[in-house]
Amino acid sequence: MKKISLTGIKPTGDLHIGNYFGAIKPAVELSKEYDARYFIADYHALNSMKDPKELNSTIRQVAAGWLAGGLDPENVIFYRQSSIPEIFELTTMLMAFTSKGLMNRAHAYKDAVNKNKENGKIDEETDSGINMGLFTYPVLMAADIIIFDSDVVPVGKDQVQHIEMAQDIAQSINANYGQQVLKIPQAAVVENVAVVPGLDGRKMSKSYGNIIPLFAPEKTLRKTIMRITTNSQSVEEPKDPDTSQIFQLYKLFADQNEQAALANRYRAGGMGWGDAKEELFQVVNRLLTPIRERYDTYMADIPALDKILEQGARKARPIAAATVNRFRKAAGID
Ligand code: TRP
Repeated sequence: MKKISLTGIKPTGDLHIGNYFGAIKPAVELSKEYDARYFIADYHALNSMKDPKELNSTIRQVAAGWLAGGLDPENVIFYRQSSIPEIFELTTMLMAFTSKGLMNRAHAYKDAVNKNKENGKIDEETDSGINMGLFTYPVLMAADIIIFDSDVVPVGKDQVQHIEMAQDIAQSINANYGQQVLKIPQAAVVENVAVVPGLDGRKMSKSYGNIIPLFAPEKTLRKTIMRITTNSQSVEEPKDPDTSQIFQLYKLFADQNEQAALANRYRAGGMGWGDAKEELFQVVNRLLTPIRERYDTYMADIPALDKILEQGARKARPIAAATVNRFRKAAGID
């Protein structure tokens, strides 16, 4: 039997090529080896997104983006967290076994408190602006994971603490009832994923405003690529491909022969940054064109997209219900 792998996707807008190479592509690869369950963490997003229109459309954009990027809903159970009410029942049960002290130690909460302190807040005020959704975020995340008997959770380093908390909570439940009520999940830290440089050379990130969007129309895509910052080397000067972020980006999209050929042109001199950007645009557009077309097709028919997610939820709910029932029985609430 294949192992179960599960991961949650926070619906944040403007998917970019950093998301594609850093998250979507590796997760799609992994889904071929595992019995994979991927979901849109829309109730997690509610903690920070209070504009209904924005949240509603971001959920669809991200779902369409992952499908367009290669996620196969026949092969992966793909659903929205909010479609599985059992997750929230399990969250309540997990709460009874989660010490408040554990939540006090969560990075996201501590960061928010520290920010308040830096802004001169003292005593109870250090909790200002922090909602209970943020404070209890790790419990909901533990429920997401545990409810599907997940073996492994592929996540970035920043999420490892959350997985450890899920382990702690599940272990104290198993210890209390003297039986393995819940499966203990393991983190699979996604290493070796490409760090994608942004337009300004820093890591590509929405918060830096340096992204190359995944689904922009061709014209916008070209304009964006032309905005990549370069040094003032003249056309004639030989250029070092290894220190050029244009070339680092090119490597993600081009095959070995193309990379070698372009590296030679860099080193020979006579190629300006404008030409280098045009070469980059060509290979980026080659990969993104079919992805963009699929994305546009999904976004043009939201009811059909929602149906895909609902079908995922239909497959997921019986699995979730079985875990909740097992726990309720162990707890005496049956
Ligand atoms: N917290 C994760 C993030 O910020 C998203 C997430 C929610 C998640 N629930 C999950 C990831 C369960 C893995 C498993 O990216």
